[in-house]
Amino acid sequence: MRTQVAIIGAGPSGLLLGQLLHKAGIDAVIVERQSPDYVLGRIRAGVLEQVATDLLDEAGVGERMHREGLVHTGFDMLFNGQRHRVDLERLTGGKKVMVYGQTEVTRDLMAARAAAGLPTVYEAANVQVHGFDSTAPYVTYDKDGQSQRIDCDFIAGCDGFHGVCRASVPRSAIKEFEKVYPFGWLGLLSDTPPVHHELIYANSPRGFALCSQRSHTRSRYYLQVPLTDKVEQWSDDAFWAELKLRLDPEAAEKLVSGPSIEKSIAPLRSFVTEPLRFGRLFLAGDAGHIVPPTGAKGLNLAATDVKYLSNALTEFYAEKSEAGINHYSEKCLKRIWRAERFSWWFTSIMHRFNDDPIMGKLQEAELDYLMHSEAGLKTIAENYVGLPLDFGGR
Ligand code: APR
Ligand code: PHB
Repeated sequence: MRTQVAIIGAGPSGLLLGQLLHKAGIDAVIVERQSPDYVLGRIRAGVLEQVATDLLDEAGVGERMHREGLVHTGFDMLFNGQRHRVDLERLTGGKKVMVYGQTEVTRDLMAARAAAGLPTVYEAANVQVHGFDSTAPYVTYDKDGQSQRIDCDFIAGCDGFHGVCRASVPRSAIKEFEKVYPFGWLGLLSDTPPVHHELIYANSPRGFALCSQRSHTRSRYYLQVPLTDKVEQWSDDAFWAELKLRLDPEAAEKLVSGPSIEKSIAPLRSFVTEPLRFGRLFLAGDAGHIVPPTGAKGLNLAATDVKYLSNALTEFYAEKSEAGINHYSEKCLKRIWRAERFSWWFTSIMHRFNDDPIMGKLQEAELDYLMHSEAGLKTIAENYVGLPLDFGGR
């Protein structure tokens, strides 16, 4: 088989890239290790920046998001027993965010790909990428016991943190920066009305908690837990009881509990690969970088990588110019490091790191300062709503 761009991975990065390339008249084949149901079973964050919603519109998959997604103009920060609202709209000159689950984004992208009749190989085993240091790269995989080969001009590594693309780059050509946090997030999804109409990020003496949502009838909650905790140790009742203890009395009173639909523990990590381009191989999304979920930047960053990549490839085919692909890595990394910094900082001020009482007091003082300073509020708000796509290092 031959195509212009072989995309490895059918998560949001690979699917969005496929859609944007299709709009630009560029052929692509997606090769995914898992089944569609498996991909849709992964529950991840659910807050989209305006830049990401614009990209989904551009890709032609924004219709259900605008119908079912919830536009939020602010969120609450809870510390020292008190809630404070961050008015995103006022602080950023009118910007908002969209609460719409990553699973739904993935579902919409999959449906659009199927409707356009674009090729995706699911359940491909032993995927390998070859020859990306030449102008004739290719991908091999096994499917139904047969080995297959796709010749292409470019390979897009959209295969997430544990993918094969980054792992195939010679160690001498790549630098990796990593920080693993000493705690995880225990997440619970339930068909219960959200405790509040906006999100609540809480720093309590018992640790961080987040009250999020997927709709008016479906809630998503998280608790900071030790890395040694196992999800089996946490009954639904234990989760709800602990969450109540981390909320203010009003929220604790209002909280509606119910059976979990999903419950899992995710580790927190900051991770960046430099560079993101190796000859004819590009890394995009989680394949190249991870942020801790505080601030929900993961999917948004993946979407902007993909936009830069589709622009670069479009420029290559339409104008025979390599300028875009030559600048891909640098352009993405500038934005990525800005988001990494925000996610690390927001994580640092919202979680309890150890039992040292002075650290808890200092965090509360920092939060108190931020919530009572226009400059402090603005710094949170402008990062939370996301940088513009074309920020030139401002
Ligand atoms: N061969 C083929 N496909 C693979 C391979 C492989 N060797 N390894 C992994 N994959 C697939 C995975 O099964 C997955 O479907 O690549 C896909 C990667 O998807 P994601 O992990 O969702 O990564 P990405 O598309 O970049 O999405 C980024 O996910 O983790 C969140 O916060 C993150 O929201 C952000 C988003
Ligand atoms: C979520 O809804 O899953 C979510 C929301 C905001 C975050 C992280 C996760 O910062």
